[in-house]
Amino acid sequence: MSSPKQVNAPNAPSSLDIFSPNLFKGKVVFATGGGSGIGKHVVETMMRHGVDAVIIGRKTDRLTQAANELEAATGRKCIPATADVRDPKSIQAAAKLAVDKLGRIDFVICGAAGNFLAPLSHLSENAFKTVMEIDTLGTFNTFKATIPYVRQTHGAYIHFSATLHYQGSVYQAHVSAAKAGVDALSNVIAIEEGPYGVRSNVIAPGPIGGTPGMDRLSSLDDPSARKIRIPLGRMGEKADIANAAVFLFSNGAAHVTGQILVVDGGAQHTYSGM
Ligand code: HXC
Repeated sequence: MSSPKQVNAPNAPSSLDIFSPNLFKGKVVFATGGGSGIGKHVVETMMRHGVDAVIIGRKTDRLTQAANELEAATGRKCIPATADVRDPKSIQAAAKLAVDKLGRIDFVICGAAGNFLAPLSHLSENAFKTVMEIDTLGTFNTFKATIPYVRQTHGAYIHFSATLHYQGSVYQAHVSAAKAGVDALSNVIAIEEGPYGVRSNVIAPGPIGGTPGMDRLSSLDDPSARKIRIPLGRMGEKADIANAAVFLFSNGAAHVTGQILVVDGGAQHTYSGM
């Protein structure tokens, strides 16, 4: 039997063609990792639906520039808050700043992540620990710092994970372990905070074009490296992740919690070890 002719999925639509522009009016999003990459695009998309934002990152200059760009693009407020998710006091101060300046926190994006390619046998203890601390401990710290405010608004969390840990992924042991921890934390947040009206979900992006993570994966030409095959026929876009986030934060997902939404065009189900 001949293979079907590949039909590529349409490009990701604008969220404004799907959801109301006022969807998040009067709400506030608190986003670690919101100053760059996928996180920044998700924040911008939510701002186009009326949300005001606090973006958190380690580099003040870059963060301030990102906040200015986001305000200019959307006409909403965006406050930069310099903090390191590994430092509970700094992330607590960022959460307090959000509430002092914007009055509330409805949505939390745990997007801060550290990553590099390295074989497990060459990883130093500090290298492994660094990624665990940014991704997993950072998620815990962000949850602890924000939950008193999120309970007040009956808000929601989205954690950015990955699909790396569903199979073995070369040179990604540290990230795989860290993201498995993130998935587990989200599930517990969902069941412990559900009675307070708080939801928690994970978005697990597959390969997304134009991101530092993808640039690194593409640099792998080792024959043992995983080849990426995507049944829907195209690379993911940042807008695919943003559309998933807008849905999960919206009341359209009012009964959805403790879930991992994989956005990868079906790539996780393909066998790509040949
Ligand atoms: C081996 C490395 C390394 C590398 C750093 N280390 N880079 N080891 N290979 N390429 C080691 C260091 O030698 C050190 O260990 C330890 O890690 C800590 O490094 P520091 O630079 O001191 O830490 P810090 O300044 O806190 O920087 C954290 C970082 C940083 C993670 C290492 O490089 C970073 O934030 N990178 C980019 C972040 C990023 O791209 N985020 C998007 C991720 S996308 P020693 O033993 O020497 O002290 C994502 C989704 C998955 O996560 C995507 C799939 C690819």
